[in-house]
Amino acid sequence: MSRARAAIVLAAGQGTRMKSDLPKVLHKVGGRAMLDWTIAAAQGAGAQRVVVVTGAHAPQVGEHAIKALGAGSLAIQDPPLGTAHAVRAAEAALAGFDGDVIVLYGDAPFVPRERIEEIFALRAAKGGIAVLGFEARDPTGYGRLIADGDGALERIVEHKDAGEAERTVKLCNSGVLCADARVLFQLLSLVKNENAKGEYYLTDIVALGRSAGFASQVVVGAEADALGVNSRAELAAAEAVFQDRARAAAMEAGVTLIDPASVFFSHDTEIASDVVIEPGVFFGPGVRIARGARIKAFCHIEGAEIGEGANVGPSARLRPGTRLGANVKIGNFVEIKNATFGPKAQAKHLSYVGDADIGARANLGCGAITCNYDGFDKYRTTIGEDAFIGSDTALVAPVTVGARAYTGSGSVITKDVPDDALAVARGRQHNLEGWVKKFRAKKQAGKNE
Ligand code: UD1
Ligand code: MG
Repeated sequence: MSRARAAIVLAAGQGTRMKSDLPKVLHKVGGRAMLDWTIAAAQGAGAQRVVVVTGAHAPQVGEHAIKALGAGSLAIQDPPLGTAHAVRAAEAALAGFDGDVIVLYGDAPFVPRERIEEIFALRAAKGGIAVLGFEARDPTGYGRLIADGDGALERIVEHKDAGEAERTVKLCNSGVLCADARVLFQLLSLVKNENAKGEYYLTDIVALGRSAGFASQVVVGAEADALGVNSRAELAAAEAVFQDRARAAAMEAGVTLIDPASVFFSHDTEIASDVVIEPGVFFGPGVRIARGARIKAFCHIEGAEIGEGANVGPSARLRPGTRLGANVKIGNFVEIKNATFGPKAQAKHLSYVGDADIGARANLGCGAITCNYDGFDKYRTTIGEDAFIGSDTALVAPVTVGARAYTGSGSVITKDVPDDALAVARGRQHNLEGWVKKFRAKKQAGKNE
C-alpha cells in the first residue's frame, strides 16, 4: 500500500516588497491566487491533507485557506522566525498523521503536480529526505545543494552563509522538500538559528538527517518551476511564464492563435480544436469554447460558454453566466451577462443583453438592449425562437417576446408580446409638408431687419 501524503504550504512571509494590502500569496497568476496553484498541485499529487502556514498579520490568507480546505487546515506562525520554524507551526495541525509530508511555498505557483508526485515516489522508494533542486542561471540568493565526494547530498548552505567555493555551485534549493512526518518534526526540533540571518532554516534538516542516518535524495527540476514571487515585477514574470505555457498548450491542442503573445488565458480556460482566436483577446476565469468557434479581435470574455461554430466579436464583452449555443453570432460592441442564446441566435451590433434567454435563431437588431435593472433588483427578459427585435428596441424587464414576434425599431417594450405579433411602442411619425421652407423664410426675414 502506498504511504499517506500531506503537504505544508508556507505562506507566513511578510511579502513587503509587493507593497500591497492584499497578502502576497493571494495575488493572482492566470486568474488564480498563487496559494491556490500550490494547493491544487499538492492535491493533484495525492496530498490528502494540506496545511497552510500563515502569519498573524494576514487573516485573509487564513480565511482563504479555511474556505478552500476546511477548518484544521490552518496554522499560524507568529512571529515568523524562519522556514524551519514555519514548518514546525504546522505540527499540531498534522497531529496523528502517519505518512510523508512535502513542504511547498505559497509564493511559488509553478511546481508541477508531476514533480511533486515524483518527489513523493522517490522518498517512498529510497527513504530519508527528498529535495527538489534546480540549476540556476544566476544562483545568487538561493540555498546551494552541497554534495559529498560520492555525489550524495550532504547539506544545504544558504547564500549568505556560503563560502566562496560553495557560491560557485549552481545546483540550488527550490525550497520543496519531503520527509516522513515523524522524522521531519524530530529533525526540526534540533534546528538552531546560529547563522547569518538568525533564522531557523528548514534546509538544516538535510545535514541533521544525514547525521541521524537519513540520507537525502535530489530531484532536479526546471528553474522556471521553482520561480518564486516577491515583487510586482516577479508577479508579472510569473504571469508571462503561465501565459507562454497556456498559449503553447492551446496551439498544441489544435487552437489557432493568430498572434499568440496578445492572447491572455486563465488557469481554467478550455478551448476545443479548430477554434480561431484573433489578436488582443483576454480570457478571465471560467471560459469554455467548443470546436470551430471564432473569437475575433479585442474581446474580453469571462465565465462564458461558447458553442460550436459560434462567432464572437470583434470588440465583444462576454460576462459571467453567458451561454452561447451553436453557431450564435455576437458582433461588435455587444455586452452579454447572465444570458443564454439558443442556436443561431444573433446580436451583431451595439447591444446590451443582461439576464435574458434568447430563443434559437432570434435576431437582436443593432442597438437592442435589455433594461434589466431598476436600481434595486434585476429582472429577466425572454425572447422566443425566431423572434426579430427591431433596432434600438429597449426591452424593459421583466418582459417576454413570443416566438416569431417582431418589435418595431425604436420601441420601448414594457408589456409581453404574443407569439407571431408585431409590437410597436413609439410615437407615430407626422410629416408637416413645407414646414421647413416657411421656417427658413421667417428666420431669414428676422436677420435682414
Ligand atoms: C529559501 C530557502 C533557500 C531556497 C529559497 C528558494 C531556507 C532557509 N532557505 O530561502 O534554500 O533556495 O527559499 O526560493 O529555507 N516563510 C514562512 N515563515 C518564515 C519564513 C519564510 O512562512 O518564518 C515562507 C515565505 O513566505 C516563503 C518561503 O517560506 O514562501 C520561503 O521564505 P523566504 O524568506 O523567501 O526564503 P529564502 O531566503 O528565499
Ligand atoms: Mg525567497
